[in-house]
Amino acid sequence: MRILTGIQPSGTPHLGNYFGAMRQVCELQSKGESFLFIADYHALTTNPEPEQLRERILNLALDFLACGVDVDKTVFFRQSAVPEVCELMWILNTVTPVGLLERAHSYKDKTAKGFMPNNGLFSYPVLMAADILLYHADLVPVGKDQKQHLEITRDLAIKFNNEYGDIFTVPEGFIPENVAIVPGLDGQKMSKSYHNTIPIFSTEKALRKTVMNIVTDCKALEEPKDPDNCNVVALYKLFASPEEVAEMAARYRAGNYGYGHAKQALFEKIWAFFEPMRARRAELAANLDFVHELLRKNGERARAEAARTLSRVRRAVGL
Ligand code: ADP
Ligand code: TRP
Repeated sequence: MRILTGIQPSGTPHLGNYFGAMRQVCELQSKGESFLFIADYHALTTNPEPEQLRERILNLALDFLACGVDVDKTVFFRQSAVPEVCELMWILNTVTPVGLLERAHSYKDKTAKGFMPNNGLFSYPVLMAADILLYHADLVPVGKDQKQHLEITRDLAIKFNNEYGDIFTVPEGFIPENVAIVPGLDGQKMSKSYHNTIPIFSTEKALRKTVMNIVTDCKALEEPKDPDNCNVVALYKLFASPEEVAEMAARYRAGNYGYGHAKQALFEKIWAFFEPMRARRAELAANLDFVHELLRKNGERARAEAARTLSRVRRAVGL
């Protein structure tokens, strides 16, 4: 079975990204052959500053390698190392009804907010389909927000196969339903767009400061508190054993236990949990030649595979 997913280089990863996506991707590596890429062509749809984009791509590579991408099992590469994906996108464009793209939620959401869309944003799902079909992926782990894009991919694969013969594997989405939504500092879903994140990699001082900013009610130290309605406890559950959680809950109910104490306990858990990954990240950051070389080699491997698919596609359509 081949598993494939792409991630946009969109900024510093936070606890929501880790528990909602990165961890699953790393766990799936044991289930089959994995392809994982940094979706840098997709990132261009928001017109980032070139220097900032370059930095984000490298940081994302470091983050994923530190968090457990196994380079012996996974082809980890940059989308743009395989320009063939753009040719496949063009060919897929010719079997894509405009209406299908006009109905895409993520496009509609952005235009509804008054955003002037470029054509890249409009045809974003076709590039995503090309990403998936080029490598004959069977299983595509994505977040809920990408579900519709995956359905578009399946539609295009089926349509193309009907018209030109059985070329593409029709992929299945893998959208883990039991992944809890990680709450942010203010209790809303943790998201870069809400500025309520706890980054997984930061300095000790910055992490402590962020954790201390978690919003709670303003009960005094001696008052009993409700562990079932507290962001600190909700986040603590991601890191602590059931016994430790029960112990914290009991302290909440008993009183004389302040939110500051709970936050300190949470901070210590987060800091210790990411310690091995932080060390690995620092090691990689001190050895960037290794990282660049790894991405380059993997890009070549992906490209060889892409070239095989593309030559079948070209023949099928009459080019
Ligand atoms: P953000 O909302 O910060 O921009 P993205 O949309 O880039 O995050 O999400 C990247 C991945 O992380 C997606 O698979 C998404 O489902 C997951 N994810 C993001 N935030 C959370 C969260 N608070 N809880 C669980 N998963 C999340
Ligand atoms: N659109 C995806 C996201 O924003 C990233 C992505 C690009 C992707 N190409 C893909 C995900 C192919 C899965 C498969 O999260």
